[in-house]
Amino acid sequence: MLSAQIVDATDDNIDKAVDVLRRGELVAFPTETVYGLGADACSTQAVERIFAAKGRPTNHPLIVHISNVSELTQWATAVPDSAMKLAEAFWPGPLTVILKRGAGVIDGVTGGQPTIGLRVPAHPVALKLLRRFGGGIAAPSANRFGQISPTKAVHVQQGLGSSAALILDGGSCAVGIESSIVDFTGELPRLLRPGMLSRAAIETALGIDFAPDNDGAPRVSGSLESHYAPQTPARWLDAENMQAALTSAPDRLTTGVIALHEQPAAVTAASVWRNLSSDPDAYAHELYAQLRELDALNLDLILIETPPDTDEWEAVRDRLRRAAGTLV
Ligand code: TXA
Ligand code: MG
Repeated sequence: MLSAQIVDATDDNIDKAVDVLRRGELVAFPTETVYGLGADACSTQAVERIFAAKGRPTNHPLIVHISNVSELTQWATAVPDSAMKLAEAFWPGPLTVILKRGAGVIDGVTGGQPTIGLRVPAHPVALKLLRRFGGGIAAPSANRFGQISPTKAVHVQQGLGSSAALILDGGSCAVGIESSIVDFTGELPRLLRPGMLSRAAIETALGIDFAPDNDGAPRVSGSLESHYAPQTPARWLDAENMQAALTSAPDRLTTGVIALHEQPAAVTAASVWRNLSSDPDAYAHELYAQLRELDALNLDLILIETPPDTDEWEAVRDRLRRAAGTLV
């Protein structure tokens, strides 16, 4: 498979990326959450290229990235004060707001829905690209549909081949999982996708409590399919059951473990043991890269130790649930 060129995010290369966008082609670029696959958000043809590159159904809406909160009203209408307040508090940052779409927003971006997702990313390369381009950049995570989001330039190259004309390298993404999504188009704001900007932080800024949602129910349109999934079968279970699963696993099975503690001396059945940080931010930062590494080893099974059921782990647990199915 041909692969796109990874280039350092120098000023010259950012200018090249702007030319690529103006030609209606795709640029992969770093954000603080994950890498995005960007297109001119005003060009139907350019946006169609995103769906083709990802193999994503065209009714799945894209997030439009903008460089400043002041641009919000170019894309959205009837912006509630609460949404403005949240955007002002956390942009640039790992927050996406869903609002009623403005006149002139193309259907390709919104999947034909009457709403639009908007975000100002907190990565210097993304911001420079947006400012120089001077318009909105529609960008989903730069991975094939259903696969793990990329947190390094090389992940984009491996997953998307030559469909991006250019991959701007901005190092490894600081946050490491996708933005928190808050929907302001209903009666009350709703958290559609948890992210490392926590539910509690958003509730405090809004001065409200989100309505409790039925856990596990799809909250973002298009989240029914198992997103963020490795190819290797994966399960998540608590430390005790992990031990039992490893000890009882047939010898011929190769198992990789993502744990929150050191490998106990008594447990030798795991082929690979990765002890991730017990700090949720550090854990999120490395999770996708670790899943990719284990996936590339062609193991029979990946076992993931369940993180605590607390607010600060909510987003990580959400991604693990998608990667490894329901809690067992
Ligand atoms: O951190 C992020 O949000 C990354 C970076 C690149 O910004 N982007 C990202 O995009 O994760 P994507 O397309 O992989 O996920 C965006 C999610 C999708 O589940 C989509 O259905 C939802 O946002 N979404 C976008 N616009 C929406 C809308 N108008 N209404 C409801 N959901 C929307
Ligand atoms: Mg995605």
